[in-house]
Amino acid sequence: MSDVYDLPRLEKLLKAQNINKKINFYTSTESTNLLASQTSSDEIFLADHQSNGRGRRGKTWITPSGQSIALSVSHRFQAPLAELAGLNIAVAVAVIKTFNHFGIEGFFLKWPNDIYGDNGKVGGILIEASGNQVNSRAIVGIGLNWCVDQALQQDISQKHMNIPTKNLDKTNFVAQLIIQLEKTFKEFNNNQLNLLMSIWNQYDKYRNQQVQIIQGDSHTLAKYLNITSKGELLVKIGNETKTISAGEVSMRKVD
Ligand code: BTN
Repeated sequence: MSDVYDLPRLEKLLKAQNINKKINFYTSTESTNLLASQTSSDEIFLADHQSNGRGRRGKTWITPSGQSIALSVSHRFQAPLAELAGLNIAVAVAVIKTFNHFGIEGFFLKWPNDIYGDNGKVGGILIEASGNQVNSRAIVGIGLNWCVDQALQQDISQKHMNIPTKNLDKTNFVAQLIIQLEKTFKEFNNNQLNLLMSIWNQYDKYRNQQVQIIQGDSHTLAKYLNITSKGELLVKIGNETKTISAGEVSMRKVD
């Protein structure tokens, strides 16, 4: 039972789109990505609260009860692990498409896969991939701020903001998010990343700007030129053009 999501309705909305993955809901859990990593079948994990939500670069993702969306969807691909590079771009576009579906405007993407509004970060994506030279599996974790209390700002390392949720139903929203994700997995499998990259470019406010590439304690000034089909960042540092993969790196705009 859940008073956060109408699970029977969620299941019905997904089944209507031929999405038959099992839905698991937790009032509280350590991390939905962790749960997904403990099952070998492709399933959907939703939680209202995470006690140790995983963020990128080893950070903790804060998921306060009743205030967030914490979703993980696992998916197997008949493609080598190396080909999952680029999935970060595709998944971020799926989130933007969900926003568009509900007429939520004014948000943009920041490489490798953050969703921002003018007042801060609204959501993040953590993809944990495994596999070999033939098959692979991705656990796609999405965290979105639904109505996170501003007072929690001190616990959240970056400036954050919420999705404008007026008139939005959380079950409908999550259903659409999963539907867009599953469509994206298909498009990604069919090598349609170029199409997804062109959508990414429409929402990327940082292209052609001076940025700082942050890796551990090192900050490097660069001009952000583009993203590549492997989901990398193409930058110019001095006179040299370089690609940078998401790994442990992040990017910040220079004002
Ligand atoms: C980031 O650092 O921007 C990525 C945050 C990803 C958080 C989500 S919440 C659902 C899923 N479960 C986790 O433990 N992390 C991801």
